[in-house]
Amino acid sequence: MSTTQTNKIEIIKAATSKINEVDFENLSFGSIFTDHLFECDFKNGEWQKPVIKPYAPFLLDPSSRVFHYGQAIFEGMKAYKDEDDAIWLFRPDENYKRFNKSAVRMAMQEVPEDIFMNGLKELLKLDEAWIKRGKGNSMYIRPFMIATGTGVIANPSDNYKFMIILSPVSAYYAGEVKVLIAEHYSRAANGGIGAAKAAGNYAAQFYPTSLANKQGFQQVIWTDDATHTKLEEAGTMNVFFRINDTLFTAPVSERILDGVTRKTLIDLAKSEGINVDVRPVLVSELVEASKNGTLKEIFGAGTAAVVSPISGFSYQDVYHELPNNEDSMALKLKDKLTNIQNKIAEDTFGWTV
Ligand code: COI
Repeated sequence: MSTTQTNKIEIIKAATSKINEVDFENLSFGSIFTDHLFECDFKNGEWQKPVIKPYAPFLLDPSSRVFHYGQAIFEGMKAYKDEDDAIWLFRPDENYKRFNKSAVRMAMQEVPEDIFMNGLKELLKLDEAWIKRGKGNSMYIRPFMIATGTGVIANPSDNYKFMIILSPVSAYYAGEVKVLIAEHYSRAANGGIGAAKAAGNYAAQFYPTSLANKQGFQQVIWTDDATHTKLEEAGTMNVFFRINDTLFTAPVSERILDGVTRKTLIDLAKSEGINVDVRPVLVSELVEASKNGTLKEIFGAGTAAVVSPISGFSYQDVYHELPNNEDSMALKLKDKLTNIQNKIAEDTFGWTV
């Protein structure tokens, strides 16, 4: 191991790299991590010296608040490598802002911008050999923060650990995605934490999603908790519906995550002259549109999944198969988006950094 200092970050390099053990042609999403991680602790009322060090397990006190009260948040971002081996981030400021919004909602410490951004950039530089060129390849970035303060009193922690880990990825969903529309379970409620990227929001989905999996569906489309009549998110993604040639998606709210891919697709679609209607979409509208043949597409949008076409949905035990579209808006928008992210097309929006 060797130690250097860069922009006040202490860098402890791994003695050897694991990169030659990785089969980059057969990556399973988020299961392989690079040689290093970034870490910065908040304790004694201040942020401590940040460090980049070899990726490894770490010890925590069993009474750490994260284990008992779930004070934990995360972000999902991606980095890309262009044909000249330059590394690009996509709208990182949006993830940074959302991270701190989540921190506030979960009564956690906000992370200063220089710690978040410099830590991320230095980590990417150090592990840059792990970022592969070419469309479909990217480095999934997982910044996260956990409450490390000890004691099982149900109060916010005084101490936090902020970390960034990196995972080389290709596709998130491989194959068909059929969804079940939620009639009983909910992802979020008004006044709750649905708009935060809180770890528990995802854990709460596991059980209902496993029930859907048993019935042959890969994901659940979440509906509003009060009436189960409005379509909100799909699995870990925001969701779009194409009825005739208009794209519909729900407005962000206390229950719906302000997805970076979601807002990007809205802007991209508008710039392509596609009519986009951001308003609550009713389950009954979807069923009606499916019956009368005007429902053309449903797709999910998220950092991990990018744009994920959905092949059909089930509601009240009736399965609705979606048509095969030669002029798929999902695929067109996915192509536009990934061309910008991979620097194949010019970024006229100024999203790439
Ligand atoms: C992302 O798209 O980055 C997400 O947060 C989804 C994740 C749960 C895999």
